Amino acid sequence: MCGIVGYVGIGKVGSVLFDSVKKLEYRGYDSVGIATLSEGKIELRKDNGKIDDVDKKIHLGDVKGNLGIAHVRWATHGRPNKINSHPHTNNDDTIAIVHNGIIENYEELKTNLISKGYIFKSETDSEVIAHLLEKFINDGFDFQDSMIEMVKSLDGSYAIGAIYNNNPDEVLAIKNESPLVVGLSEDGNFIASDVPAFLKHTKKVIFPQDKELIILKKDKVIVKDLNGKILDKNIQTIEWNEKMAQKEGYNHFMLKEINQQPNVVVNTLKAKKDIENIVSNLNDINKIYFVACGTSYHAALTGKYLLEVFTNIKTDVIYSSEFKYFTNTLDENTLTIFVSQSGETADTLSAIKMSKVSRTLAIVNILGSSITREADNVIYTKAGPEIGVAATKTYLSQLVSIYLLVTYLSKNKNNKFYHEMISQIEKVPRYINDLLSDEDKIKEIAHKYKDTKEFFFLGRGFIYPTALEGALKLKEITYIHAEGYPSGELKHGPLALIDENVAVVVLAPNENSKSISNLDSYKDTINNMEEVKSRAAKIILLTSHENGKYNNVDDLFTMDNQVDELISPIVYVVPLQLLSYYISIYKGLDPDKPRNLAKCVTVK
Ligand code: F6R
Repeated sequence: MCGIVGYVGIGKVGSVLFDSVKKLEYRGYDSVGIATLSEGKIELRKDNGKIDDVDKKIHLGDVKGNLGIAHVRWATHGRPNKINSHPHTNNDDTIAIVHNGIIENYEELKTNLISKGYIFKSETDSEVIAHLLEKFINDGFDFQDSMIEMVKSLDGSYAIGAIYNNNPDEVLAIKNESPLVVGLSEDGNFIASDVPAFLKHTKKVIFPQDKELIILKKDKVIVKDLNGKILDKNIQTIEWNEKMAQKEGYNHFMLKEINQQPNVVVNTLKAKKDIENIVSNLNDINKIYFVACGTSYHAALTGKYLLEVFTNIKTDVIYSSEFKYFTNTLDENTLTIFVSQSGETADTLSAIKMSKVSRTLAIVNILGSSITREADNVIYTKAGPEIGVAATKTYLSQLVSIYLLVTYLSKNKNNKFYHEMISQIEKVPRYINDLLSDEDKIKEIAHKYKDTKEFFFLGRGFIYPTALEGALKLKEITYIHAEGYPSGELKHGPLALIDENVAVVVLAPNENSKSISNLDSYKDTINNMEEVKSRAAKIILLTSHENGKYNNVDDLFTMDNQVDELISPIVYVVPLQLLSYYISIYKGLDPDKPRNLAKCVTVK
């Protein structure tokens, strides 16, 4: 949802900013722009289009100066065109700003500023920021105090970077409910929406709180509160490195991230002890709510199935945007778990703020993100930076964290589950490595079905949320209509849609008579598969059942028969990710940058 960068330093400012903002392209790719201060004047280059295309036209990296700001846009207010691109300037181009977020009261502010003679060029909410800053400077405030006065008049979410030609040594920045991190390097200092923007230069960061003024200078960073008091901020070191935010030989980040999953599982498992500690303080919990959006919701839904089967804790899963209708039953014996890759999703962030009467736990990938600061406890999923817009490895890491959480919650209640779970989860990297080596089979299936207009994904029990996730991945990056259903539910209506033009992906994990999770889902799923087959649908069966009834399927992908129902959600999603990836490739699309989407949804 837009990415911003600011830099003051000894490096070549145009190329540093260009390189940094390119690292944030996953946050928005409608438009891009850079503004610098060069010999006392603002130099501005911006246009709509993807970064490389715009750069070919206007050579963003060549912009001169000693400091500057940059922006990639995911349009909210106003179409993606040159005028609506950031940075925005005031009327005489002495101030330039970049903004990520939504200014909720912009219409009122705009009307007021227009009545005072300020002239607006764009349709964006963000432009009010540049004019407001000018207004306060005209009122006699200096640049820093104008930023402080300006944010006092703003309602909404924002991360703002600003430069002013009479303030030639500083980039100012401030945030409220939008991500912003400060990077401190030998060659200069940064602000950015996310760490990958400056990982090449530094791992030393400060996470500012909401409404703290950041003053970025060449050799230091000062953080003040809104009363002008200088704050002592903690400098943290990020574990990520520059390579982690590069494609490392893969054609796309998504493919790299799919292939990293065996290692991600190993890494996420390192949080065992932390999770055990968190759970040791949760003995009096009698109800759990999971709250999440999109892919994270599917990980949470898997958690509900596990908790309902293996513990006696009543569990529900609620979309973050719907959570406000479910707060009446929260109390101090409720655990509310917020699952979010980014830790910045606006719907989830506002939900956590409504749940303070309960105990809160965040399952998040990004260190220091807003949701982690609101939660009583945090489980970091340790998947490393995920750049592809479609979530893949972070989903797997959320699942592993949730499996561990359920494992520890069930420890006293269901000892058998605890031991079986730990031993099975440790085998997951091997299962995934095996199926990644069978990638050609998935490519073949993807090629065959690339022009299919409609897909259903069916699964029952633990694997049902995986069916939802398979459908979501396909929709997002191939633009093919896809629905996930519990296999038994199709006959209650959607079966009417099935004909020879529809492809149905059936997920049928092995049942293991020795496993405590033997819920006998396989046979029922296969019966449901027969129902769609007899309506002429094309069947793609994914199974780990060794004696599966395979004669009636159009395409088959088999996995190790040790992958039983219990563990199947962490494994079966991988071929589904590959299926979507390769269909997207065969359709000539860019799976890393699906249309209309951005990685981090910081608007409600
Ligand atoms: C799908 C996807 C989205 C996110 C959703 C929540 O591939 O990435 O559906 O899962 O926007 O984002 P987080 O997990 O950052 O809260």
